[in-house]
Amino acid sequence: MLDLFTQSKNIILQAGEMLKTAFYQEKNISTKSNQYDLVTDTDKAIEAFLIENLGKICPDSQFLAEESDSVYKTADKLWVIDPIDGTTNFVHKFPFTCISVAFKLNGKLEYGFVYNPIMGEFFTAQRGKGAYLNGKRIYVSKEDDFGKSFLATGFAYGFASAKIDNIEIFRDTLSKVHAVRRAGSAALDLCYVALGVFDGFWEFSLKAWDVCAGIIIVQEAGGKVTNLNFEKWAFSDDLIIASNGILHNHFLEHLASNIKKQMD
Ligand code: IPD
Ligand code: CA
Ligand code: CA
Repeated sequence: MLDLFTQSKNIILQAGEMLKTAFYQEKNISTKSNQYDLVTDTDKAIEAFLIENLGKICPDSQFLAEESDSVYKTADKLWVIDPIDGTTNFVHKFPFTCISVAFKLNGKLEYGFVYNPIMGEFFTAQRGKGAYLNGKRIYVSKEDDFGKSFLATGFAYGFASAKIDNIEIFRDTLSKVHAVRRAGSAALDLCYVALGVFDGFWEFSLKAWDVCAGIIIVQEAGGKVTNLNFEKWAFSDDLIIASNGILHNHFLEHLASNIKKQMD
């Protein structure tokens, strides 16, 4: 009998085949909160497949899943699922798209899986056992100069009416670092922090399913993930900040001063 981690990984590999098959095909697209907030039949089909099969291997578990069961809940065994993170990329055939699944045990992140079957990148982590890309151990970067950092961010679907304008922060940050990217998948952005490609990532208004898997992957790769007060990121926090740890203080100060400028 395979352990729960391996069984879940095998189910996510199968879900990846669904994503890959659908990627180059015609998609059936609907909108959700506004014209940019998209969902496809594939999002729904992958989510249903994951809930059915993860439920079978862990019968007393519950689900927090973007498309069908998005009410925040606490449970001893909780799967947190984003069936496609980067749906807009998926719709437009931009290959930065993935399946993101986390498993929380007694309130703590236990496993994280982020699988991009288009680029053949499967990121995994288990609490206390490190983070991996395709089975090979990964670590955050060693960059200690904020001025030389390579960062990522994203814009929530409600960005146009958000109280803090992340476009302004984006603009200010661009002039202070090597570059800032907006690639369109928060889960993969976090994994690229874990991989040492991005030195840091920030975004407002993300949901648990966007980030839970990526958080444990960053932590297990030696990085740090917090809110603006240097506390562990919680479901109720608006801003998430991930970094290689070394740059964290400087990064927080930079974001805090930008936020303060907008509030004054
Ligand atoms: C979105 C992506 C994107 C982020 C948005 C998310 P979705 O998730 O992670 O990078 O900027 O805030 O909602 O809708 O593709 O699952
Ligand atoms: Ca998402
Ligand atoms: Ca999604």
